[in-house]
Amino acid sequence: MILITGASGNVGREVLKQVAQTGAKLRAAFQPSSKATVPAGVEVAAVDFNQPETLQCALKGVDRVFLVGPPTAQLPALERKAVDVIAESDVRQLVKLSAMGGRQSIFPGQHADGEDYILSKGLPYTFLRPNGFMQNMVNYNAPTINSQGAFYGTEGDGQVSQVDICDVAAVAAKVLTEDGHVGKVYTLTGPEALTNAQVAQIMSEVLGREIRYVNLSPEQLRPTLLSVGVPEWSADALLDLQRLYREGKAANVTHDVAHLLGRKPTSFAEFLPDYRAAFDVREQAAS
Ligand SMILES: NC(=O)c1ccc[n+]([C@@H]2O[C@H](COP(=O)([O-])OP(=O)(O)OC[C@H]3O[C@@H](n4cnc5c(N)ncnc54)[C@H](OP(=O)(O)O)[C@@H]3O)[C@@H](O)[C@H]2O)c1
Repeated sequence: MILITGASGNVGREVLKQVAQTGAKLRAAFQPSSKATVPAGVEVAAVDFNQPETLQCALKGVDRVFLVGPPTAQLPALERKAVDVIAESDVRQLVKLSAMGGRQSIFPGQHADGEDYILSKGLPYTFLRPNGFMQNMVNYNAPTINSQGAFYGTEGDGQVSQVDICDVAAVAAKVLTEDGHVGKVYTLTGPEALTNAQVAQIMSEVLGREIRYVNLSPEQLRPTLLSVGVPEWSADALLDLQRLYREGKAANVTHDVAHLLGRKPTSFAEFLPDYRAAFDVREQAAS
């Protein structure tokens, strides 16, 4: 039995879908308040990492876990609580969704600490370290792209080998459903590293209208992030991540996705058409 935590999230949702397609026995963990739905035949468990007994209960009969924590200041504490419970269970593989970048920036640094904690417990781990997700463009930048034909950032000409969440999920499904991945670390990127100007160019071509990237200083962007409700910790972590990007430290292209899946990872130009509706100005205005 496989337990998929964070099953309502951007990554967990896709992992749930792709593991369900393999026919493996699985249980999806949602926070008790979640209204998320599951594919037919999937068991459901209410899990809040702040209430360890909920995870304890969800782990009954489980031998593999996909561990996802939210990208917030609470991530290290939440994952530690989850790992403490998993360490007391019969789990024989813990697949942690981590991040590329190590301790060079706040977000991946949290995950590096999380990996170390799992190692300190001697758990049979598999670490998946994706670079930034292509879906961030949809989830965070669609509003200004649709209202102003532009997206904003502080990444300058930094190149990023961003990865499609669907490829991350395909890797997760593979390592969760076959043997041979315990003790392995996979760094997951797309097939190429692009600057935001190149991303804007691809978006313009695919969407058939001009999309511009506007580069700002961190001092210019920070107040805007706060004004639209981004919490202070998250704004600073985001700007710190964009500093890493600006410095060209997220441009590495790895071959782990291709080795594991036997095909090239999805490029940004291949990824975008599936998300066309999010950038359809008329459809967005009507909804
Ligand atoms: N965005 C990127 O480019 C990127 C790149 C590399 C790595 N990552 C990492 O990928 C991970 C997942 O990202 P994502 O976009 O899928 O995040 P997400 O959509 O925010 O999903 C986080 C999940 O964690 C669940 N969760 C929150 N608090 C919880 C608690 N107390 N107990 C149990 N579950 C809880 C959420 O449930 P609810 O829906 O109920 O809140 C949700 O299902 C993050 O750790 C992030 O750092 C992100």
